Amino acid sequence: MSGKREIDDVTGVETTGHTWDGIKELNKPLPKWWLMTFYASIVWAIGYMIVYPAWPTLNGYTKGLWGYSQRVAVTQEIEGARTAQATLRAALEKTPLAEVKNDPDLLRFAMVGGASAFATNCAPCHGRGAQGFTGYPNLNDDDWIWGGTLAEIQKTILYGVRGAHKEARTSDMPKFGTDGILKPTEIDDVAEFVLSLTKRASDAAAAGRGAKTYADQCASCHGAEGKGNAELGAPNLVDDIWLYGGQKADIVQSIVTGRGGAMPAWEGRLDPVTLKSLAIYVHSLGGGK
Ligand code: HEC
Ligand code: HEC
Repeated sequence: MSGKREIDDVTGVETTGHTWDGIKELNKPLPKWWLMTFYASIVWAIGYMIVYPAWPTLNGYTKGLWGYSQRVAVTQEIEGARTAQATLRAALEKTPLAEVKNDPDLLRFAMVGGASAFATNCAPCHGRGAQGFTGYPNLNDDDWIWGGTLAEIQKTILYGVRGAHKEARTSDMPKFGTDGILKPTEIDDVAEFVLSLTKRASDAAAAGRGAKTYADQCASCHGAEGKGNAELGAPNLVDDIWLYGGQKADIVQSIVTGRGGAMPAWEGRLDPVTLKSLAIYVHSLGGGK
């Protein structure tokens, strides 16, 4: 190594003076920007270790000046969400049923709560999609046995149908067959008449005879035109939506037994906010009036 700067012949770059087996090392320092970034990251890393938790110790770890911890952050987030929920619950409890829809936040809160309470409490009878089963009404359509306004839906949910609650909706179709109110031939005729309401009668003469029985025995509840009466829980017979099935055998069976489906009361079993949310949820399903 000489004191004099040595220039490489091929590249024209200064060498460091180191030589291995005749190969010379060129003196090419790291670019400035690279070095600066390197030093800056060292400074940053030291700063990080000072303010954030960094090093394990025998019985824990260095907490850092800011005392940051993800566990604390998550706990705070959960606390925040709880407070927000409590606020919404309190607001929902106070807000009259009909006014909840005016507040988008409250409405969203009620819908989420209603959907989850529905899945737990109502889906076993009404189906996960509220589509219903034979004897258990579909809650998506706009055909309502007991009324489809928010208030009527809430009443049905609170007090139930034909149950023990003193406010329960009650109204019993007579057991025309079982109690011998009508003769089997009369039942057959009136069933033909009911079929004729949805243009499905196969025996016009029977349907004609049934029309008289219908007017005498059935119109008081189901209406002269068969459109039903929500005050009496008497289903519409002309819309071709059937709670118990629309085949002739099903209709005969309904007339013979009077059916008498029961829905439990939910007042006292679910809290008032959940009950309100359920009414809003069911009303929103598509058929709400
Ligand atoms: C044990 C079965 C059962 C459960 C559980 C049940 N229901 Fe019902 N629900 C019924 C039956 C049966 C009827 C029809 C009653 C009738 O024949 O009038 C009904 C009727 C209704 C109606 C009236 C429909 C109409 O057309 O007027 C609403 C609304 C309703 N249920 C909502 C609910 C909600 C909300 C829940 C959950 C909190 C629920 N139901 C849980 C059986 C059930
Ligand atoms: C006192 C009122 C009342 C009278 C009278 C009455 N019904 Fe009903 N009817 C009802 C009620 C209430 C239901 C619903 C029963 C239920 O939800 O379980 C019903 C249900 C029915 C259904 C089943 C509808 C469906 O969607 O599956 C048929 C069919 C029916 N009635 C026909 C008749 C005929 C025909 C007569 C006359 C012979 C008659 N009803 C008389 C109240 C009455």
